[in-house]
Amino acid sequence: MAAIVSVKNLSKHYDGGFQALKDVNLDIEQGEILALLGPNGAGKTTLISIICGLVKASSGSATVGGFDVVGDFRQARSLIGLVPQEIALEPFQTVIDALRFTRGLFGKRNDPALLKDILEKLSLWDKKDAKTMELSGGMKRRVLIAKALCHEPRVLFLDEPTAGVDVELRKEMWDVVRQLKADGVTIILTTHYIEEAEAIADRVGVISKGELLLVEKKETLMQRMGMRQMRVELMQPLEVMPEILKPYELDYSADERTLIYSYEANGERTGIASLFADLSKAGIILRDVETRQSSLEDIFVGLVEGK
Ligand SMILES: Nc1ncnc2c1ncn2[C@@H]1O[C@H](COP(=O)(O)OP(=O)(O)OP(=O)(O)O)[C@@H](O)[C@H]1O
Ligand SMILES: [Mg+2]
Repeated sequence: MAAIVSVKNLSKHYDGGFQALKDVNLDIEQGEILALLGPNGAGKTTLISIICGLVKASSGSATVGGFDVVGDFRQARSLIGLVPQEIALEPFQTVIDALRFTRGLFGKRNDPALLKDILEKLSLWDKKDAKTMELSGGMKRRVLIAKALCHEPRVLFLDEPTAGVDVELRKEMWDVVRQLKADGVTIILTTHYIEEAEAIADRVGVISKGELLLVEKKETLMQRMGMRQMRVELMQPLEVMPEILKPYELDYSADERTLIYSYEANGERTGIASLFADLSKAGIILRDVETRQSSLEDIFVGLVEGK
């Protein structure tokens, strides 16, 4: 399938020479949810701003729906909805007026049924006549999403949609995103929250210091790079690490009386059977065993630290 968003060799030097993006290449398929994961200052907002035509790239190009974001700005922009990182709303404007106005800016005629539908999806219909300054932070964020949707974009950019949003509302937001995907909208969101990417993304891009380190299907990423950990709880604390166990490079936590063994989840030989045999040879009695898959978080930290 042709990419709906395509970014080629994109670099950005801000005035003063700081390089915020380094040769970024990225294709986004129609209908997918892509999470851009990266620490503060990684270049996430810069990348989104260039695709949305708000910031000019220093070199390289980007297209949306086949339209160049510079050369065919109006066509490209009409396909894009943007929910900015900073909340910016007219305090005295009502919610419904904010939507009508935004739709008008895109040259689209008023469509009360559509706006009602959008507000209902975002649980804001009962607030339609409230002034935006009367809303809570989480409601304001949802108004931003509603505004971004009211010209019926095919691609929605969400720049940290759940920053400063409580756990319950974050889950609600994820449901909204999933619903939008079901409606055929392509979604690119940025986040610091690994669990957010893990919860809703189809693919994850990891960006650090202006470089897109990788983009992969979430499952592949977790499988390919994932390690598994086995925690072995002991009946008795260990005085010294027996010689026979040294090759396993176990971590030992004295207060929890736990040995931790890390191994490749999909490696041919996990080493577990021989570890058990050697534990038994060393006369160590086990109380409990538990294994867990390393999370996207472990992978992310490893990548950003350059492991
Ligand atoms: N207008 C600007 N002028 C100069 N430097 C800028 C400008 N905007 C951003 N930068 C710099 O570019 C780098 C990337 O910023 P960007 O806002 O893209 O990061 P981000 O990944 O969105 O971070 P955050 O997670 O904090 O939102 C930062 O070092 C930032 O200081
Ligand atoms: Mg940002």
